[in-house]
Amino acid sequence: MNHTKSTALFEKNNRVIPGGVVSLNRKVEPNIAFVRGKGSRLWDADGNEYLDFHAGFAPYLLGHGDAEVEAAVRRSMDENCTLSGSGTTPWEGRAAELLCECVPTVEKAQFTSTGSEATYLALRLARAQTGRDHIIVMQGGYNGWHDEVACNVMTPLEHTGPRVSRGEYPFVPLSAGMPSGIAERVHVLNFNDLESLEWAFQTYEVACLLSEPILQNIGIVKPQENYWQSVRELCDRYGVVWAMDEVKTGFRHALGGFQSLHDLKPDLSIFGKAIANGYPLGAIGGKAELMDLFDAPEAAKRVLIAGTYNGHPTPMFASIATMEKLKRERDTLYPRLESLGAQVENGLREAFAEAGITATIARQGSAFCTYFMDAAPRDWHDIAEKHDMDFDTRYRRALIEKGVYFFPLPTKQASISAAHSEADIERTIQATREVLREMSN
Ligand SMILES: Cc1ncc(COP(=O)(O)O)c(C=O)c1O
Repeated sequence: MNHTKSTALFEKNNRVIPGGVVSLNRKVEPNIAFVRGKGSRLWDADGNEYLDFHAGFAPYLLGHGDAEVEAAVRRSMDENCTLSGSGTTPWEGRAAELLCECVPTVEKAQFTSTGSEATYLALRLARAQTGRDHIIVMQGGYNGWHDEVACNVMTPLEHTGPRVSRGEYPFVPLSAGMPSGIAERVHVLNFNDLESLEWAFQTYEVACLLSEPILQNIGIVKPQENYWQSVRELCDRYGVVWAMDEVKTGFRHALGGFQSLHDLKPDLSIFGKAIANGYPLGAIGGKAELMDLFDAPEAAKRVLIAGTYNGHPTPMFASIATMEKLKRERDTLYPRLESLGAQVENGLREAFAEAGITATIARQGSAFCTYFMDAAPRDWHDIAEKHDMDFDTRYRRALIEKGVYFFPLPTKQASISAAHSEADIERTIQATREVLREMSN
């Protein structure tokens, strides 16, 4: 595949943009410059076409350029909806109503431009409510780029040490430039580990437990049975605010988020990505008692939420159209995504078995990840110890050369959209067969 124009563009941009990309998580090999997307497809600057499973890091649940979402965005412009920056708007009210209707634990909602802003606010609310400082996050989880949560995702084991159960991992920042002292109040725990959680609740004055319900930034690491139900009980016992980060799982796994599949009741939930099918929007919602701290009569208890672009009509119209479509089509759309997911899971499993390669496909609905190891991981340590990262990288790069785009970093989760067809999935399985044959030569 020819990437001449992509390479030239990257070199040119690299002169004025440090790293050549505006989110350094996007700096990968091959460094392809995509210029267009529609449905399940992407096209790059050289005119190559790809079947897309990256979905821009997961927001495109309905596929690129969904007609209904695009029409809503156009309508917001045709009707001269603007960001007045003063007073309320019909669209923020409608989006909040929809979010409350879709997710039963959300009694009230607020909107930001990104998921990171919304996770930041979850910590503020929890601290304001409890008067405590400490927070808990999971090793292998990702909750955004701000200080305190930008830590410990794909951490090399030489930094974490061996699996710690009853205890915590060292805070390993993802960034330089954080103020000192953060590590003292942020505690990184092993996922799926109730003993460590209770230990932390007994050891520190914990305000908030913030975690994805499934670790979807290191593939698909699922909670063990009743894990989250027990977490709820522990949070109640120790007076800790449970904030579920549904930025990746929300709307993707069910209209009511992952929580609705198991009747989980977090105090706060954070959404982003699929809530606006690719437009920049974050949301936080939950118990009225907590959310009302944004407007607490007492200044000392009041949590600041602000943002020039909060409630901007473009992402709000996109989100309203997305939520309305998902709500209307929930009985057909989610079963269809599940069926496409099962097709890819079964097909890939067979293809790897035929090639004699040890692989486990971990999947939740339309999100999946192939681990080159003999069982599904229960935490980051399983992956770091057993997953063949090098083979994973080579497999992904070889698929890209066949026009099937999986993000070329090991363990990164793949996302199917409602715009994918059974034929797209079949093509992906066939491409895997071809790639495995070529890799074995
Ligand atoms: C689970 C999770 N939470 C939070 C975020 C941060 O969202 P954003 O990139 O919109 O700030 C991400 C982004 O990938 C995420 O995957």
